[in-house]
Amino acid sequence: MAGDGPTGPAPRRRDNESRGRGEAHTTDRLLIRAIRPADGDALRAFHARLSPQSVYLRYFSPHPQLSDDDVRRFTCVDGTDRLAVVALDQVRLVGVARADRLGVADRAEVAVIVADDLQHQGVGTALLERLVHDASGVGIQAFEADTLISNQPMLDVFHHLGFPVTSHLDTGVIHLTFPITATADYERACQSRQTTLAFDSEPTGDG
Ligand SMILES: CC(C)(COP(=O)(O)OP(=O)(O)OC[C@H]1O[C@@H](n2cnc3c(N)ncnc32)[C@H](O)[C@@H]1OP(=O)(O)O)[C@@H](O)C(=O)NCCC(=O)NCCS
Repeated sequence: MAGDGPTGPAPRRRDNESRGRGEAHTTDRLLIRAIRPADGDALRAFHARLSPQSVYLRYFSPHPQLSDDDVRRFTCVDGTDRLAVVALDQVRLVGVARADRLGVADRAEVAVIVADDLQHQGVGTALLERLVHDASGVGIQAFEADTLISNQPMLDVFHHLGFPVTSHLDTGVIHLTFPITATADYERACQSRQTTLAFDSEPTGDG
């Protein structure tokens, strides 16, 4: 990835020009880092604030609250077969993306969800960029995802990441696959993204 240090994508600030679709948020500076077991309460609170619509798009069913098992499973990852990264503002967790290695060892299934008031401001894309970086570092070469056919924002994010996406439709769900090798096209896409938010990246293994 362009500008990468040894431990993660370089923090970057994209331009400051508002693109008009963003809603109010508590800060314009977000930290992106690997999830930690201690993030359980923040993850639970994040989930409780999500709209039913966002939850449905993520889980394909109503999922009003996270169980203790959900929280344990989501926060306790090994960084090799199960990876997850979170975005945090000064007071709350505002997004999470995860990748779970599939039976085919160099592939992982990904999912992402962002707080409703921060959607369409580049958070989902920034989380996926970080996940691409971390997953590539442990030998994962391709991401797969299942997305409801109605979920155009998610489809757009995947298609605009900068990787060649292939997809097929199966009973209302689009299954996408793309290699995550950082090609020149991907580097260019990363550099050209614009958002009003600034993203700081904390290397995996800190804290
Ligand atoms: C789908 C989802 C994860 C996308 O996350 P997001 O943070 O909204 O995505 P991004 O902001 O990175 O990208 C969305 C669009 O906003 C645009 N955008 C980025 N910064 C922007 C800004 N400052 N102002 C306006 N638009 C902006 C992006 O260019 C992108 O547009 P494009 O797809 O046409 O390129 C989010 O909408 C969500 O959580 N949805 C509910 C859960 C869900 O559907 N999960 C998917 C499960 S597979």
